[in-house]
Amino acid sequence: MAIQSKLPIGILGATGMVGQRYIQLLENHPWFEVAWIAASDRSSGKTYGEAAKWRLDTPLPDRIARMILSPAEPEGAPKIIFASVDAAFARELEPKFAAAGCAVVSNSSAFRMAPNVPLVLPEVNADHLHLIEEQSWRKDSGGYIVTNSNCTVMGPVLALAPLQERFGIEQIFATSMQAISGAGYPGVASMDILDNVIPYIPNEEEKMEEELLKLLGKLDGKVVRPLAARMSASCNRVAVVDGHMVSVSIKLGKPATKEEILAAWEGFRPLAGQHLPTAPDQPVQWAEQPDRPQPRLDRNRGNGMAVTVGRLRPCGLLDWKFTVLSHNTIRGAAGATILNAELLRSLGKFDPAPPPDISGALTRKQTIEVLDDFAAAVSGGGSRGLGVV
Ligand SMILES: NC(=O)c1ccc[n+]([C@@H]2O[C@H](COP(=O)([O-])OP(=O)(O)OC[C@H]3O[C@@H](n4cnc5c(N)ncnc54)[C@H](OP(=O)(O)O)[C@@H]3O)[C@@H](O)[C@H]2O)c1
Repeated sequence: MAIQSKLPIGILGATGMVGQRYIQLLENHPWFEVAWIAASDRSSGKTYGEAAKWRLDTPLPDRIARMILSPAEPEGAPKIIFASVDAAFARELEPKFAAAGCAVVSNSSAFRMAPNVPLVLPEVNADHLHLIEEQSWRKDSGGYIVTNSNCTVMGPVLALAPLQERFGIEQIFATSMQAISGAGYPGVASMDILDNVIPYIPNEEEKMEEELLKLLGKLDGKVVRPLAARMSASCNRVAVVDGHMVSVSIKLGKPATKEEILAAWEGFRPLAGQHLPTAPDQPVQWAEQPDRPQPRLDRNRGNGMAVTVGRLRPCGLLDWKFTVLSHNTIRGAAGATILNAELLRSLGKFDPAPPPDISGALTRKQTIEVLDDFAAAVSGGGSRGLGVV
């Protein structure tokens, strides 16, 4: 599909750790252009250069440094919002933007588990986007909310999706070692994290468990049936800047050899040929060396969008165990939102909303047909995919 001109997007939470990644990843993006930025009242009215403590290792683009931060209100904002504020603020702000007709592509946890809000990872469950049509904002103003997952669960889900598809998964035991950038800026005090491991991250284990099962769940009409697997997560904060590592043990639905598991990861390329600019060619990459993956050496694979798996070996309790690493502020946050937005753009979900009358109903029906095509294409069962949108 030919993309004619760049779409203006707004960033809510632009000054934060994830907001900075949006700005970095969207510089020179072929489809989207940052046209509006907002953060808290503390930042509103200031230039981005004054308000943000830029913490990334590429220069802050001049154009963005000079932009003025708007109040966090929908008036004057573009119709596509990349949202990354704390859940407490997101709970109040995101519905306001959706009610004003904005497509809110969110990174916050506030609505991830709402029954009518898609929690989407394009390689895994693009068909869950059907749920957009169940949101009242969509019917009233054309606006909606789509979310990506918690940063820690993203790596395990990408690694588990091809195994679930081929062998089924019955039990998952996961222990995380999470980077400090996952707590935002300034995050955990250096006196607390240096020379230390903190075995508690509020609400993280619950999020990991419930989001994993929703992401790997099946859309059944208007609801997602979570994966029927037992899951236990333990989450720890470690003194790494970027990159969440997770040790995973699994019990499969049917036996699989090491070669079959490696082949499942190698062959997992559900977005191949869809031309989404941020999608990595190989989303799950195998690291053969016995001491990999490691955050410093592997987090930037696939421009930070690929996850690295290693240390696949038999598990004494369940069937198999392995280690998975993902870049938490790219694959686990800003890159995930951008990839969701690319998918939405490709599916025509950013096109002007139809008026809420009979023609609107027809358009929604057509949209659902297109999503069916897409779901069939990503699961290997169809040939039309995004090309028909
Ligand atoms: N860091 C990660 O790896 C990661 C991964 C996945 C998901 N997330 C989620 O993404 C969200 C943001 O995380 P972060 O790490 O970027 O946090 P952060 O560095 O603390 O940034 C928070 C952002 O929210 C803004 N903000 C605070 N209060 C606000 C309000 N009342 N209204 C509007 N904006 C407000 C801040 O603006 P000011 O600068 O003006 O205070 C800042 O731009 C959180 O929901 C987090 O759970 C983070």
